[in-house]
Amino acid sequence: LNKPVIAIDGPTASGKGTVAALVADKLGYHYLDSGAIYRVLAVAVAQQALDPDTPANLATIIPMAASLPVQFQGEQVLLNGLDVSDAIRTEQAGVMASRLAVVPEIRAGLLQRQRDFHQSPGLVADGRDMGSVVFPDAVLKVFLTASAQVRAERRVRQIENRGQQADFQAIFNDLMARDKRDSERAVAPLKPCDDALVLDCSSMPIDQVVATILNWARERI
Ligand code: C5P
Repeated sequence: LNKPVIAIDGPTASGKGTVAALVADKLGYHYLDSGAIYRVLAVAVAQQALDPDTPANLATIIPMAASLPVQFQGEQVLLNGLDVSDAIRTEQAGVMASRLAVVPEIRAGLLQRQRDFHQSPGLVADGRDMGSVVFPDAVLKVFLTASAQVRAERRVRQIENRGQQADFQAIFNDLMARDKRDSERAVAPLKPCDDALVLDCSSMPIDQVVATILNWARERI
C-alpha cells in the first residue's frame, strides 16, 4: 500500500500520544500529534486575549487557523518561530483548544495542515477525528481508551514529572468536562468510527498496547 495511514483516536490522556509516537518509531513512519496543532492555535488565541465565546472574535480566529504559523522541529513546536513546546502542554491550553475545536470553520481551517503530514513511507496520526474526518482512508483505525480514573492519574503523573503540582480532583473534573465537550459537539464528535478497533488500555502496560497495534498494522500493510 502506498503511504499507509494509521489513525489512533481517543479521549484525553488515554495514552494515545505516547503510543502513536512509539508505533511511528517502530514502523519508521511520520507522526502527527493533531492535538498539538489545536493547542498551538489555543496559545496564539490566548496571546491575543481573544475570547472565542465572543462571536465577533471568531472573524479573527478562523483566518488564524487556516494560516497558523506552526512548525514542528523534532520535539520542538514553534509558533511564529518561537518555542511553545511547554506552553501548549498546560491545562489552560488544553481547555482553550477544546473550546476552539467545537467551531466547524476552525476545524476546516486546520484540516490541510494535518493532511500535509501524510508523506512517504507512511503516517501514524493521533487525535479525535483522524479516522473519521482527516484520514478516512486509513488502513488501520484504533480507538484507544481508558477509564477516567486511569486517565486522570496519568495526567497527574505527567504534570508532576514536569516538576509542577497537580490536584487530582481538579484534573479529573477538567477531564470529564473536556470529554463531554469533545463527545457532544456537532462536528467530528469524539466517538469510535464504525471501522475502528477499540482498545481499552486501562490495565495494559504501554509496550503491550504498542505490540497490539503493531500486530494489527502488520496484518494490513
Ligand atoms: O489531544 P489533546 O489533548 O492534545 O487535544 C487538545 C484538544 O484539541 C482536545 O480536547 C480536542 O478538543 C481538540 N482536538 C480535536 N481534534 C483533534 C485533536 C484535538 O478536536 N484531532
